Amino acid sequence: MGRTLAPLPASPTFLSLLLLLLFLPLICQLQPVEALGFQFNTFDPSSNQSTLSVIPPALISNNALQITPDSANVNLNLKNQSGRIFYKQSFKLWDGPPEAPTKLASFNASFVINIFPITSTPGEGLAFIVAPDQNLPAASFGGYLGLTNATSNGNASNHLLAVEFDTFKQDYDPDANHIGLDINSVRSNQTVSLADHGFDLAPNRAIYFHVWIEYDGGRKLLEVYMINENGSTPTKPKPAFPIMTASLDTSKVVTQNSYFGFAASTGDNTELNCVLGWNMTVEELPKGTPAGLVIGLAVGIPAAALALAGAAFLGVWLWRRRVAASDPNILGTLKSLPGTPREFKFKDLKRATGNFDERNKLGQGGFGVVYKGVLAAENGQVAVKKFSRDELKSKDDFLAELTIINRLRHRHLVPLLGWCHQNGMLLLVYDFMPNGSLDGHIFCGPEKQTLGWSHRYKIVSGVASALHYLHDEYDQKVLHRDLKASNIMLDSNFNARLGDFGLARAIDNEKTSYAELEGVPGTVGYIAPECLHTGKATRESDIFGFGAVILEVVCGQRPWTKGGYSGFQFLVDWVWSLHRDGRILEAVDERLGGDYEVEEARRLLLLGLACSHPIAAERPNTPAIVQILSGSVDVPRVPPFKPAFVWPSVSLLTEDGDTTDVTPMTSSSRFGSGWTPRFVSKESDSRYNNSSPPV
Ligand SMILES: *[C@@H]1O[C@H](CO)[C@@H](O)[C@H](O)[C@H]1NC(C)=O
Ligand SMILES: *[C@@H]1O[C@H](CO)[C@@H](O)[C@H](O)[C@H]1NC(C)=O
Ligand SMILES: *[C@@H]1O[C@H](CO)[C@@H](O)[C@H](O)[C@H]1NC(C)=O
Ligand SMILES: *[C@@H]1O[C@H](CO)[C@@H](O)[C@H](O)[C@H]1NC(C)=O
Ligand SMILES: *[C@@H]1O[C@H](CO)[C@@H](O)[C@H](O)[C@H]1NC(C)=O
Ligand SMILES: *[C@@H]1O[C@H](CO)[C@@H](O)[C@H](O)[C@H]1NC(C)=O
Ligand SMILES: *[C@@H]1O[C@H](CO)[C@@H](O)[C@H](O)[C@H]1NC(C)=O
Ligand SMILES: *[C@@H]1O[C@H](CO)[C@@H](O)[C@H](O)[C@H]1NC(C)=O
Repeated sequence: MGRTLAPLPASPTFLSLLLLLLFLPLICQLQPVEALGFQFNTFDPSSNQSTLSVIPPALISNNALQITPDSANVNLNLKNQSGRIFYKQSFKLWDGPPEAPTKLASFNASFVINIFPITSTPGEGLAFIVAPDQNLPAASFGGYLGLTNATSNGNASNHLLAVEFDTFKQDYDPDANHIGLDINSVRSNQTVSLADHGFDLAPNRAIYFHVWIEYDGGRKLLEVYMINENGSTPTKPKPAFPIMTASLDTSKVVTQNSYFGFAASTGDNTELNCVLGWNMTVEELPKGTPAGLVIGLAVGIPAAALALAGAAFLGVWLWRRRVAASDPNILGTLKSLPGTPREFKFKDLKRATGNFDERNKLGQGGFGVVYKGVLAAENGQVAVKKFSRDELKSKDDFLAELTIINRLRHRHLVPLLGWCHQNGMLLLVYDFMPNGSLDGHIFCGPEKQTLGWSHRYKIVSGVASALHYLHDEYDQKVLHRDLKASNIMLDSNFNARLGDFGLARAIDNEKTSYAELEGVPGTVGYIAPECLHTGKATRESDIFGFGAVILEVVCGQRPWTKGGYSGFQFLVDWVWSLHRDGRILEAVDERLGGDYEVEEARRLLLLGLACSHPIAAERPNTPAIVQILSGSVDVPRVPPFKPAFVWPSVSLLTEDGDTTDVTPMTSSSRFGSGWTPRFVSKESDSRYNNSSPPV
């Protein structure tokens, strides 16, 4: 048996330290100064940390402000939520004494929003707000839109101005598809029904609205313009006529220095409330003291750097401690293993592989080398894995692999033929896979013929069925932990065979460290985000790896190479953005030259995204996956935005029994596979027995 790693030590201390460090820059907030405006063509949680205040559960993810949580995770409870996001700096909106202001600042806001229903009817709405501070009122969910609550609604001391985009009808609302001007209250002073303009705020597809809110301080007039867009990048000019015009004296409503931002809420009906771009210009009134900004930046930036360095250091330190705490197991009595397959003679294997000749090498990793061999007696080709670590570790590696693989029987697993323990050598003998590994066929250059569509679909189905066997059918649950294209072998008929060939088998994971992961971005694409926090492999993390494999197979791209803005983007993010724009089929490998089944491709791509869900509990399980691939169940609905990873993950906290206490992956093999299976106890399995396929 391989080493098991000690549980994460002192993790509460670690987490709170980490949180403190991460939020330090936020604590050092900026003071109000005048400014002329800002422009966000996209949003990014780290680059925009110094300019935006994100009031949870709002968050920034997928290049957008998510004013209410963006995950379809039922455990997170999307219902009855409200959030706010502000530009961090306040603006001076009027000048002179409060009773007799001398000048009102004009301002223009323009932004792109996307409201996507999660429940069949959306709820509740999104609003552009001008507020006196950056707080979120308590219990502001449902009809309160993140603006007010049952006690504060209508109170002039709110000093709140908002333009709401309301998708749910309360008794005081005209309908479930309107905009409104809100002054200190969610009972709008003025509303406009959008149906009159042919707009549907939240249809059941990705739709974008470009909105302009213009306030003219001289004329004390507020105007709202709006147009629908096909994509998140605005293309159409501002319409000639506003859809709402209201006279408004801002000095009677908002405080002299106020903040601009967005608020939104959900109720029993839920929706995604996204902002994708945001520009503002504000007329500059006579200056105040901008010293606060300088201090804020001077403290904030070094604090952020310190926080990152601290987090990295702690991560490595914890990792070291965990590795040091592992203890080796001792080789058991080999021949007492139940059902142990055939024992090979060392001299036969030696001859078969030409005395383990370099030229017969199929792959190499940290734990052994795999050679191709021809057994003279049977005239059959085999793959012989020779364990190569020091004697004690090799015994562990060998026995761990043997005890698991030995009893697995499935037509989509590489079959184990036998073993050999002689002359101090530990060897496992596998069936030889004539077509090598999958990666050699999908990432090949133009000189090699790429796999056709039907082969690709068959391979994905084969891997799914192997995974289903490991996770749900075999009596002892097994995690593969290292699903990737290089670990999927192809037999003579191009059937997928999950297995150990390139062969780094990392049962105790000493080869893997977080530091190593950073240097190998490719591996990261296969690793579920929660694993980076827990260091634990789960069935859901296997599914995540499977999702990466699906996308690789369909797109013919490695999980991390698709060029984004910076020339680096995860394949999954790219596919997700195409999905959002309704162009998901553009992700299909162009080497197929359009020769593929459209419905199958769509199904695989959406399934690939569903399996790549950042929240483990939202990924489909293997029974559902098998049904989806057979076409008997519809693909799960995939939200237009990739939901954000949320930590701590609810499912992991409440169902800790369903995890194995090991690190999830190996990046050890540059040449190919690392079959790194683990057992999962059956008792912890109840979740899977009564779960139904997602809809
Ligand atoms: C916000 O983040 C985006 C993406 O990184 C960046 O291009 C932009 O400059 C940032 N804007 C502000 C105002 O911080
Ligand atoms: C949401 O709030 C409403 C009103 O307070 C309540 O009736 C409902 O049960 C809440 N729903 C959830 C899921 O908490
Ligand atoms: C707002 O936009 C209008 C029309 O485009 C323009 O006339 C006005 O100067 C702008 N105001 C500010 C503060 O940018
Ligand atoms: C913001 O301004 C830039 C530059 O003028 C423009 O390209 C972009 O479309 C604007 N975005 C919005 C949301 O109005
Ligand atoms: C409304 O919000 C205020 C400020 O957060 C809070 O003090 C008050 O208790 C809230 N009222 C309700 C009914 O939750
Ligand atoms: C409005 O809010 C203020 C401050 O929270 C409070 O003192 C006042 O009593 C409220 N007014 C009403 C009518 O509830
Ligand atoms: C409109 O706003 C004013 C404050 O400017 C408020 O006193 C009034 O009650 C509001 N009217 C309606 C119908 O809500
Ligand atoms: C954009 O949307 C309009 C309807 O608003 C539609 O007529 C047009 O075909 C769409 N264009 C694209 C490229 O999807």
